[in-house]
Amino acid sequence: MDKLKDVVDNTLVPHSAFQAASTRLEQCFKNADGTVEPIGLAVIGESRTGKSRALEECATKHPSIRNADGLHLPILRVKTPSKPTVKGLVEVMLRALSDPKFDKGTEQARTGRLETLMRGAGTRMVMIDEFQHFYDKGSHKVMHHVADWLKILVDDTRVALIVAGLPSCGAVLDQNEQLAGRFLAPIRMPRFDWQIAAHREEFIGILGAFQESLADHFNLPALDTSEMAFRCYCGSGGLIGYLTRFLRQAVWNAIDEHCRSITLEDLARAHDESVWSRNGLSDVAAPFSRKFVTLPSEELLARISRIGTAAEEANDLKPRRPRTPPGSSARGLKTRLRQQVGRRQRGRGALRPFCTRPLNSQVCRLSSEPRTHHRLQETGGAVRFLLTC
Ligand SMILES: Nc1ncnc2c1ncn2[C@@H]1O[C@H](COP(=O)(O)OP(=O)(O)O)[C@@H](O)[C@H]1O
Ligand SMILES: [Mg+2]
Repeated sequence: MDKLKDVVDNTLVPHSAFQAASTRLEQCFKNADGTVEPIGLAVIGESRTGKSRALEECATKHPSIRNADGLHLPILRVKTPSKPTVKGLVEVMLRALSDPKFDKGTEQARTGRLETLMRGAGTRMVMIDEFQHFYDKGSHKVMHHVADWLKILVDDTRVALIVAGLPSCGAVLDQNEQLAGRFLAPIRMPRFDWQIAAHREEFIGILGAFQESLADHFNLPALDTSEMAFRCYCGSGGLIGYLTRFLRQAVWNAIDEHCRSITLEDLARAHDESVWSRNGLSDVAAPFSRKFVTLPSEELLARISRIGTAAEEANDLKPRRPRTPPGSSARGLKTRLRQQVGRRQRGRGALRPFCTRPLNSQVCRLSSEPRTHHRLQETGGAVRFLLTC
C-alpha cells in the first residue's frame, strides 16, 4: 500500500528539458575531475518546474558509500539554509559530510574542515538548491560574501558547482565576475505553454506517461485526450509540480476510500484540496468541474500562465503576448489533438536501461511532432518513461 501511495512520486518522466538538464549535469560530473578550471552550472526556472528533481536524479546515480575507508560522497547536495549566510551554508555542507562538529568553529575553521572532508570523501560536485535565497528580492540585496566564498571553495577543491533556483538567483552570480566567468550557459527548466505546439504536445506526452503509471492501479479517465489534457493544463498552469500534486492527492483519496477508480469528480476534489489558492481565477469554473469550458481562450491562457507565481510577482509580470500558432482555433486544436492521441502508440516499448546512452538521439526536443511515451524500466518502485516522437 505504501508503494501505491507513492505511485505519482515514483513516476519519472524525462521530458526534453528534464533530459537535457540531466545530460548536462552528468557531463559536468564526468568532466569535473582534473579540469584546469572548475565548472559551474546553474539550473534556473520557476517554482515547481522540476529543478530539484533533476538534481536529485543526478545525485541518485552517484550515491554516497560508506566503507572501511570512510565516507565516499561524489556529490555533495544541499539546500540553501534558512539563514542564508556563508556560515549557515558551511554548516549544512559539513552536516551532509557527517561532520559531528558541523556547528563548531569560526567560518574560516569550518571552511578548512569542509575542504579537508570534501577531499577525503572524493567529492567531485557540489549542488546548492534554492540558491535564490542568497538574493533578497525585497531589498534587492545580494549576499556578496557567498559568491566570493564559493569562488574560493571551487578554486581550492576543483569541484564542479551546480546551483539551482528561481531566475533571481542569477543576481548572486552576477555579483562576482570571476565566479560568473566559471559558469556555463544555464539550464532553463520551462513551464509548459499551451500556445506553443511543441510544449503542448510534450505536456500531453507527460500526461500519457502518468496515465499509464496510474492505470496499473486505478480506473481513471484518459488524461491525454484533448479535453482532459486541457483541464490538466489549466489545473497545473503547465507546471509539472502542480500536476503531480493533484494526481498524488487523487491517489491518496482513492486509497483512503478503498476505491480503485478515480473519476472526473475525484480529480476536481483532489485539485480543490491540493492547490493553495486559485489566485485570480475565482471567477472561472474549476478545471475539473463539469461546468468548465474546455476552450483555450487567450485570456484564460494568460491567466493560467500565472499559476504558481507569487501574487506580487504575478502583478509585476507584464502580460504575455499571446502567441497563436497556426490552426489553434479551438476546433483546429481539438481535431489535431484527437489525431495525435489516435496516432499515439499504446504499446509498451522495449525495456531499455535508463540513461545508459544519451537519450537525445531518441528524445525529440520540442519538435512539433506528436510525442508518445514508452515505459523504460521499473527499478526500486520507480517507473521511468521515455518520450519519443
Ligand atoms: N520529470 C519529472 N517527472 C515526474 N515528476 C516530476 C518531474 N519533474 C518534477 N516532478 C515532480 O514535480 C514536483 C516539483 O518538482 P521540483 O523538482 O521540486 O520542482 P522545483 O525544484 O523546480 O520547484 C516534485 O514532486 C517532482 O517529483
Ligand atoms: Mg526545488
